[in-house]
Amino acid sequence: MAKSKRRWLIERKKDVFFRQAKELGYESRAIFKLKYIDSMFNILKEGNIVIELGCSPGGWSLYILEKIGESGKLYAIDKAPLPIKRKYPQIEFIQTDVLQSDFLDILSKKMVSDSVDVILSDLAPNMTGKYELDYYRQIALVKISIATIEKFLKRGGSAVVKVFEGPESQNLRKLFLSKFKFVHSVKPPASRKHSSEFYLVGLRYFGGAYST
Ligand SMILES: C[S@@+](CC[C@H](N)C(=O)[O-])C[C@H]1O[C@@H](n2cnc3c(N)ncnc32)[C@H](O)[C@@H]1O
Repeated sequence: MAKSKRRWLIERKKDVFFRQAKELGYESRAIFKLKYIDSMFNILKEGNIVIELGCSPGGWSLYILEKIGESGKLYAIDKAPLPIKRKYPQIEFIQTDVLQSDFLDILSKKMVSDSVDVILSDLAPNMTGKYELDYYRQIALVKISIATIEKFLKRGGSAVVKVFEGPESQNLRKLFLSKFKFVHSVKPPASRKHSSEFYLVGLRYFGGAYST
């Protein structure tokens, strides 16, 4: 086994959030990031229609399903499979690459309504360890998340988008400020300390043209 993989496995064994996620039957430790953000801003409510970008392996999805209840609807998207064991009628999983040019049309055809209460994106590229490459791949994912918000989020809706700290952070924050009444940058305790990720949280969407 490669040294880096062995180190990663040892780190994971010591990881409190990973152990808690396993004990509670969640698919990934990532759930604690969304739980933390939702506990701060009360984003997810019973009956909500939600789009989730980058849903696999399904930690966030299980939390969202708990919060929106049986009257809600979750459109969960990833290029990887979603290994949730139980069947939930409220979830529609769409396995597709969000970077393909007709992604928004594919999503539109699956949706019953264009009026979505909450859009969440935990999209992240496969990391190569080369900062610039990883950073700009992540920016491409942030841009499609923003395009999804512009197409589907209803007025007054909320969004959470994963971003990596870097040269575009200020522009992205300004862009969020041009679309949402309240904007927050959040680094949940469950984010790994050495990770540059944080989440842009937008509350009370009022729209606006996309320009950086
Ligand atoms: C950090 S993981 C998401 C974890 C998830 N929130 C959870 O709680 O289990 C990021 C996800 O983004 C997905 N992803 C990355 N690039 C993508 C793309 N171009 N199209 C669709 N999904 C993509 C990956 O497949 C991966 O499952």
